[in-house]
Amino acid sequence: MPGNDTHLIYRPGWVNNGPSRCCYIINHNLIIIGMNNRRSFLKSGAVLGGALLFSPANSSARSLERSNLNNNNNNEKKTRVLGKGSQALKVSTLGLGCMGMSYHRSFVPDKKAMIALLRKAPDLGVTYFDTAEAYGPLVNEELVGEAVAPFRKDIIIATKFGFKNGRPAAGLDSRPERIRAVVEHSLRSLKTDYIDLLYQHRVDPKVPVEDVAGTVKDLIREGKVKHFGMSEAGVDNIRKAHAVQPLTALQSEYSLMTREPEKDVIKVCEELGIGFVPYSPLSRGMISGYLNERSKYNPDNDNRPSLPRYQAENVIANWPLIDVLKAFGDQRGLTVAQVALAWLLAQKPFIVPIPGTTKLAHLQENMWVVNYAFAPGELNTLTTKLDQVKIVGERYTGQSAEQTKK
Ligand SMILES: NC(=O)c1ccc[n+]([C@@H]2O[C@H](COP(=O)([O-])OP(=O)(O)OC[C@H]3O[C@@H](n4cnc5c(N)ncnc54)[C@H](OP(=O)(O)O)[C@@H]3O)[C@@H](O)[C@H]2O)c1
Repeated sequence: MPGNDTHLIYRPGWVNNGPSRCCYIINHNLIIIGMNNRRSFLKSGAVLGGALLFSPANSSARSLERSNLNNNNNNEKKTRVLGKGSQALKVSTLGLGCMGMSYHRSFVPDKKAMIALLRKAPDLGVTYFDTAEAYGPLVNEELVGEAVAPFRKDIIIATKFGFKNGRPAAGLDSRPERIRAVVEHSLRSLKTDYIDLLYQHRVDPKVPVEDVAGTVKDLIREGKVKHFGMSEAGVDNIRKAHAVQPLTALQSEYSLMTREPEKDVIKVCEELGIGFVPYSPLSRGMISGYLNERSKYNPDNDNRPSLPRYQAENVIANWPLIDVLKAFGDQRGLTVAQVALAWLLAQKPFIVPIPGTTKLAHLQENMWVVNYAFAPGELNTLTTKLDQVKIVGERYTGQSAEQTKK
């Protein structure tokens, strides 16, 4: 049995059944092993032993691990499709947000450790990697390019253009010549000759969105780009762009603290057959319970100190959301982050969240969520409780807020 990702997990039913059942995930296949007697316990040990033979340290396992990327096709839970028709793109049910490995999340971990994490990600089911020119700027694309080079053709790389000199603080720039220059640079940084999914990071009011879509259309014709996406675009611009070059994905902030896209954007995506990719699905780590009103950030490499929701009084005011998620998760062996991601996935089949992490344990925890299915009625009960929590504090202020007013 090929596999290298083996860990003990809890499932709904654990509480009721107590320790009489033991569950393992081996390459995302849930294996429930009876623990009622010694024979089944020994049998489970044999299964695990076999799985562990294929540890990442075992180089001969590499090709098997890589083949798991293709085996994903056999399991609908592991993949979703963004976009439709000729613009459809199959991706892992959860993507990996790579931004925090170099930018905006305080501590920048050792590059070798991040390359190792990125190379482990496909073994855990990740085939969609999200980056942007602006992350660093530039260095995040270089990191992702170096890390995924050995299996680049097996995965999906999404990147973004749209800021002057790649710096959000410098303002917007989606002029066609700038888009082309960014794409050439991204291709070099990513060590590839095509970008699977190219997003406009923010709508540029100075450049007609039709010109942006037309430029991406030309890049698709030239083979440098495969699919088109927009980030934080409003419904009018989505429709205008889609009429020129069909969009594969719309990427916007969407989480249990930011539910604005439910009003119109997700509905338009459904109508037009565009995938929806929630960024900051854990509200920059807040919807995990790990951050609190005493959390400290590195102001030189973190946008959270400038955002209202991370101010102590708002963290405290919004804590009832964590309480609801924790109460739900505690009864089912799920963490706060897992409940939040499972809730997002349950909203629509074309939703593909991209949680960011710098830790293997969090990546495993997040990716496990694709196995979770809400029992009948469970989702409605949870949503009703979540709806009662009033979130306080804007998600952005100043120029960042202006740039999302598409
Ligand atoms: N289009 C846009 O304008 C835009 C804007 C922002 C972000 N993005 C994209 O979205 C991705 C994710 O966004 P984000 O990083 O802002 O927010 P996020 O995914 O909501 O949160 C990331 C934070 O959560 C923590 N975390 C992740 N999994 C966890 C778990 N299971 N338990 C506890 N903590 C956990 C991470 O810390 P650890 O490292 O300690 O795990 C990290 O600090 C980015 O990487 C980027 O690709 C796009």
